[in-house]
Amino acid sequence: MTEIYLDPSRVVGRLERTVFGGFVEHLGRCIYGGVYDEGSPLADSDGFRTDVLALLRDLRLGVLRWPGGNFVSNYHWQDGVGPKDARPSRPELAWGGTDSNRFGTDEYLRYCAELGVAPYICLNMGTGDLAEALAWVEYCNSHRDTYFAQARRQNGREEPWAVPYWGLGNEMYGEWQVGSMSAEEYAREATRWARAIRMLDPQAKLVSCGMVGWSEWDRVVVDALAPLVDYHSIHIYTGSEDYWTNVLQPHQAERAIAAARGLIERAAYLQRVDHPPRLAYDEWNVWYRNMDGALEERYSFVDALAVGTYLNIFVRNCAWVKMANLAQMVNAIAPIVTTPEAVAVQPIYYPFLLHSQGALELAVDVFVEGPTVEWPGEPHKSRWPHRVGDLGPFPLVDAAATVDAGRRRMFLTLVNRSPEEPEQVELIVRGRALDGPARLRTLTAERSTAGRAIADVETACLEEGGVATKGSSVELALPPQSFTAVELSLGG
Ligand code: AHR
Repeated sequence: MTEIYLDPSRVVGRLERTVFGGFVEHLGRCIYGGVYDEGSPLADSDGFRTDVLALLRDLRLGVLRWPGGNFVSNYHWQDGVGPKDARPSRPELAWGGTDSNRFGTDEYLRYCAELGVAPYICLNMGTGDLAEALAWVEYCNSHRDTYFAQARRQNGREEPWAVPYWGLGNEMYGEWQVGSMSAEEYAREATRWARAIRMLDPQAKLVSCGMVGWSEWDRVVVDALAPLVDYHSIHIYTGSEDYWTNVLQPHQAERAIAAARGLIERAAYLQRVDHPPRLAYDEWNVWYRNMDGALEERYSFVDALAVGTYLNIFVRNCAWVKMANLAQMVNAIAPIVTTPEAVAVQPIYYPFLLHSQGALELAVDVFVEGPTVEWPGEPHKSRWPHRVGDLGPFPLVDAAATVDAGRRRMFLTLVNRSPEEPEQVELIVRGRALDGPARLRTLTAERSTAGRAIADVETACLEEGGVATKGSSVELALPPQSFTAVELSLGG
């Protein structure tokens, strides 16, 4: 039996819609053959796959990061604007492909407009230089009568695209990154870029390139860039064949958030920074099966439990995590999979969908009292070095909750990690009666492969229901290995 105590007035932070963000990279079939499929009967006149668009629209993303990832560190944006047939094909160094450049800046920004999401462009700090970056910002955002703003107009877009978010490079610390550098080199270079970009576009929200949150790289970068940027980015991937490792490793994000926050608070205090950056978890996911080439990971329902937990963690920590981007959205380590004829969603699609559709404006504190679990040991077949044993014990049921600004509604997301047993849960709301039944949406593993749209893509079982409330509490039975979204109406 687990008891979850909730207090609608114990707000822990404002939840930004950008926490439900996505990421699409020129990688394998993410853009070409996924997002964009010229000539396909499933594509619209812009070449956008309408089946993919519809599924992304349902996810109500707040932001979509592009064009990489590792890809961006040798991407020259001017190759990807203007008449398509005149655009050059280029070798793609990060993943060993070729880029036709038929999907470029204007296509991406039209795609964002189509989805109603804020664009987030990562700049090339590998083979790109500051002049090229400034030209990109001018092309996208300038109202003026200047060369690159005019080039945008000539390419059919009169009004500026108003791209709010700009990333200062991607994973510039890694030897896998074209043009990687030391922390000190990065700090110096990114400082120059940040100052210059702000001169051109004072509204630009800048994102510094962090690592995992607790590294020396993060410290050096935060110390240099805290006065200059709006977000410090960190990345996390986890996953393993081992059940407990897979479902508990996301808790490493809690360590990362705490550590990065500490670095930022320290820098802000010592340097008297009035508006210190917040965190952008601008790549996160489960990823462990397919490390090379097109990254066409096939997800299981256990991975969906991990994804549901990640989002719970971001909601609980939303005072600091102001953006998070599921890496990635289509075909490459993605919830959405395409073939030339069909589209399907993997199990990880659903916890994101339920979280994003149900989340309310303010996160509230959750106190969970019940059975706990401990991480059993070293990662089994895990590529990632995340040890989380020192962070436990973890509640068997991981929970997060939000309320609307008027405190009339409450939304909860519950991950029951018990492998075999259902868990009885009582939700107890302090000082408020519950009005009417609780609305439930419960995800469990797929029961039959019969309805699959793509034969090797596992999906999940989503059931809706309701349960009567009593006074200020409600009792639920969570199936083993399940994710449940609960909507409550708060009375007087
Ligand atoms: O999302 C896949 C890759 O993971 C990204 O290109 C890179 O930034 C990270 O290493």
